[in-house]
This record gives sequence, C-alpha cells and structure tokens, in this order.
Amino acid sequence: MRSVSIFAGSVYGNAQHVAEEVNDMLSAQGIESEVYTDPETDDFVNAESVLIITSTTGQGDVPPNLELFFSDLQDSFPLMDGKPFAVAALGDSSYGDSYCGGGRQFFDLLTELQGKPVAEMFEVDAIETLAAEEEVVPWVKSITSGLTE
Ligand SMILES: Cc1cc2nc3c(=O)[nH]c(=O)nc-3n(C[C@H](O)[C@H](O)[C@H](O)COP(=O)(O)O)c2cc1C
Repeated sequence: MRSVSIFAGSVYGNAQHVAEEVNDMLSAQGIESEVYTDPETDDFVNAESVLIITSTTGQGDVPPNLELFFSDLQDSFPLMDGKPFAVAALGDSSYGDSYCGGGRQFFDLLTELQGKPVAEMFEVDAIETLAAEEEVVPWVKSITSGLTE
C-alpha cells in the first residue's frame, strides 16, 4: 500500500488545518501519511502518492509557503510516471475567474508531469462552507483507495 504525502498550501491556516485533519483520518485508517508545509522537490520525488491541499491567494496564486516548491517543480520537472495524485482547492468564488487558481495550477502541473489524477480537483468555496475539513475529509476518504493502491 502506498503512503500519502500531503502538501499543504495555506496563508491563514485553513488549508493547513484541513491537511492535518486529513492526516489524522488516514492514520486512523492505518495509512502512512505526512503533511509538508515547507516542502522540497525531494519530498515530492520520494512521495508514493501526492495529495495537494491548498488555498489560493492574490489573483489565483499559490500561497507563499508553496511558491518556491511550485517553481522548483516547474524548473526541475520531475516526471511522475503515473504516480497517483489528487488536489483539494480552498477558494472563494467571489474572486471570479481566479477561483481556486492555486489548486488549478497544481492540478495542471501534476498532469503535465504525467501524474495520474485519481479524481477531478475538489473545490471548497469559502462563501458556502466555513468548515472546509467537513467536506475535504470525506472526499479524501472516498478516493483513498485510488491514492494508495
Ligand atoms: C488576499 C486574498 C486573496 C485571495 N485570492 C483568492 C483567489 O484569487 N481565488 C480564490 O478562489 N480565493 C482567494 N482567496 C480566498 C482564500 O483562498 C480562502 O479564503 C481560503 O479558505 C483561505 O485558506 P487559507 O487560510 O488556508 O489560506 C483570497 C483570500 C485572500 C485573503
């Protein structure tokens, strides 16, 4: 069974909190997982499966704590060769076209890196949901087998 590496991008702590709740849920299921908030390319390369949980800042931008990680991935372009991945994006639909842009950028990059998306990107709209973990934890639960098999 594959372990799950969770990369959390967060400005105010919402997405990080969600990532920690997901990590707890996976542990409770006996699945090895780890949350990275200041990751390096090696953490990504060594991951057996990749779960990105990120908010969006600015105008559709990746949060500052994952900016360098994101640009290093773009530069070094470590191909994933079918490694499973999933993306949960926290956003706010009042931002219009840049809604969930940070998550979308990761989804597109990991697709270019030839990862295998186990699901469509999951979006959580701050306008509708105050407790994002109440949506993201069950969603991850529903796709766990795709990530770990
Ligand atoms: C300055 C600022 C810019 C934001 N820009 C966007 C955006 O472009 N698109 C979007 O979907 N959400 C945007 N958001 C909303 C956040 O992504 C959303 O509130 C999220 O839940 C914050 O999670 P965090 O605490 O993990 O950063 C923005 C929020 C702030 C404060």
